[in-house]
Formats: sequence, C-alpha cells, structure tokens
Amino acid sequence: MTDESVNQSRRCLLIGASSVVGAVGVVGAAVPFVQSWTPNAKARAAGAPVEVDISKLEPGQRMTVEWRGRPIWIVRRTPEALAGLKVLADRLRDPTSDEPQQPKYATNEYRSIKPEYLVLIGICTHLGCSPTYRPDVAAVDLGSDWAGGFFCPCHGSRFDFAGRVYKGVPAPINLEVPPHRYVNEHVLIIGVDQESV
Ligand code: FES
Repeated sequence: MTDESVNQSRRCLLIGASSVVGAVGVVGAAVPFVQSWTPNAKARAAGAPVEVDISKLEPGQRMTVEWRGRPIWIVRRTPEALAGLKVLADRLRDPTSDEPQQPKYATNEYRSIKPEYLVLIGICTHLGCSPTYRPDVAAVDLGSDWAGGFFCPCHGSRFDFAGRVYKGVPAPINLEVPPHRYVNEHVLIIGVDQESV
C-alpha cells in the first residue's frame, strides 16, 4: 500500500468515525470518574460490547453506533429491499456469502439473524472509507439499475442491502457483519456472538 493510499484510508476512517451518532450503552458497570480509569479499564471499555435500542428505527432507516472505534450500522430493511435481494445474484461477487465476512448465524440470504434488521461494520472493504447509505432505488447519480444499498464515494464500490459487493468495483469482498445477538425484540448487543451466550 502506498503512503497516499494509507493516508486516504486514514482520512476515510476519520470521516466514518465522525458520522457515528453514539451508542445507547456499553454493557457492564458504569465507572464514575473517567480520569481514574486505569489503562486496562480503558482497554476493556474500548472493546466492550455495546447495547443498542432499536425500538425507534423505522422501516428504511439506518442508525449508527460505535463499537471498537468503528461505525456499526443497523438498517431496518423494508419488504421491498428484502425482495430486491433475491434478484441480484448475477451482479454480485459473493452472493451466497461463501467468504467469511459474517458469523455463521448470518450466513444466509439476508446476512442477518432477523431478515428485517441488517447489522454491518460500516467500513469499505477496499481501503477503509465509510460508504454512504443509498436506499434510493434508481438514484440519478448511481444509474437506473441501482437497486439500493451502500455506495462508497472514495472509489465507487457498490454494495447491496445485505452489504454484498457488486462485481467490477474496487472492493474485493462483502462488508463485514460484526458479532451480535438480540436480548429481546428491541435491544441487541454488538460484540457478543449469538452462540456464546
Ligand atoms: S475505499 Fe475505495 S471504494 Fe471504498
């Protein structure tokens, strides 16, 4: 990787980090005085699972939280978006998620535990920019065949509503699905595998 591409990647990550709107909570006990944290406590907090309330997420909306310094997207897909996933296979590089960019429990046609909710790490698998959420089917700037999904403005990579990468773009693999599990209908935890609890 050249210096310029490394710089580009860092710039993109910063852009992505600045778009994070905040997690609902970090799992574990609250610490009253941040200044008194030991390095170990800080490290634990930085990697701690994040609890997210998704009860206000409307169909078609995306929310962003931060986990381990990375933007995590939660998208509530519409019935139309879910139906659209079934007709794209010929245009995708890994339509059946054969590559290991998702936990086993998300290796399915929706790349998720529940079809309606998609959970992704919002970092492009090319050089690390944060793609934009573009649910607008046939958007003028993306072409009449744009089926909705995520578009990376850095070098033009395209991903569908399941984070699956299109053929012929710089990104080589699908967007990554982080470990996650549902506590109940409205709360999920990012950073903990479904099987491990
Ligand atoms: S970082 Fe190059 S296309 Fe996304």
